[in-house]
Amino acid sequence: MVTMDKYFETNLKHWNELVSVHTDKNCYNLDDFMKNPNSLHSVELEALGNVQDKTLLHLQCHFGMDSLSWAKLGAKVTAMDFSDKGIEFAKTLSKKLNIPTYFICSNIYDLPDVLDEKFDIVFTSYGALYWLHDIPRWAKIVSNYVKKGGTFFIAEFHPVFGVFDDNNKTDLVVKYPYFDIGEPMYFDECGSYADPNAKLKNNETYGWSHSLSTIINSLISAGLTIQSFNEFPFSVDFLLPFMVKGSDGYYRLRDTDQELPLMFSIKATK
Ligand SMILES: C[S@@+](CC[C@H](N)C(=O)[O-])C[C@H]1O[C@@H](n2cnc3c(N)ncnc32)[C@H](O)[C@@H]1O
Repeated sequence: MVTMDKYFETNLKHWNELVSVHTDKNCYNLDDFMKNPNSLHSVELEALGNVQDKTLLHLQCHFGMDSLSWAKLGAKVTAMDFSDKGIEFAKTLSKKLNIPTYFICSNIYDLPDVLDEKFDIVFTSYGALYWLHDIPRWAKIVSNYVKKGGTFFIAEFHPVFGVFDDNNKTDLVVKYPYFDIGEPMYFDECGSYADPNAKLKNNETYGWSHSLSTIINSLISAGLTIQSFNEFPFSVDFLLPFMVKGSDGYYRLRDTDQELPLMFSIKATK
């Protein structure tokens, strides 16, 4: 049997260090967030609408900005991440902002051992799936947390976008696999997506590519009914050197004749 421990341990060290980089250097505009706690984007806000008094489970919450934003909008939020540093920081933010939110530190695959509850909404977003090796198992866990009549919503970077070489400064060059290859991709590169100049000690990471068909079919097989699937020609993050930020806050490819799908969203019910 293949043990995942090596991959999870390596990724955990990386993410724990990223929490201090992302919070120390104000990469996520924490100062502004403390004044106005809303880190959510129009894509997820419009899709989920009024969340007042709804129970919401936020998966892979990093250090909790989106979790606290949903709670500020009136949702009763439970949020989880495997990074103990992220959860520690999220709890501090929750106290400072006086926005009650329940944070759990757990690997997502072990969540059923520590959380047994159903939610009106299960939410996950940008940059979550790449770190997960088994999407069918993830989808079963997700589905199990959705109440009958409840909603699952994911907004994620598009897997098509993941095939391009992010170090190429001028062209779209295919470098990475689109389809699931089973084996993890290994990187040992300096910096963080939010601060490319950051000097980290824990640069090693393992990640997995997942095709849209794997994601969609896994959700269907897990008992969810897809209500809507959308693709967007823009991204919430600056992920390739030749992207430009628009007045709406989203990043787009510059100097390309055709638009490519950079993000997708799925809304499903149970
Ligand atoms: C790019 S971030 C997602 C951020 C998210 N969009 C948010 O709400 O801020 C990816 C997150 O996944 C977490 N993560 C990675 N592998 C995990 C795992 N196996 N179980 C739980 N969390 C994991 C990382 O700690 C990190 O916080």
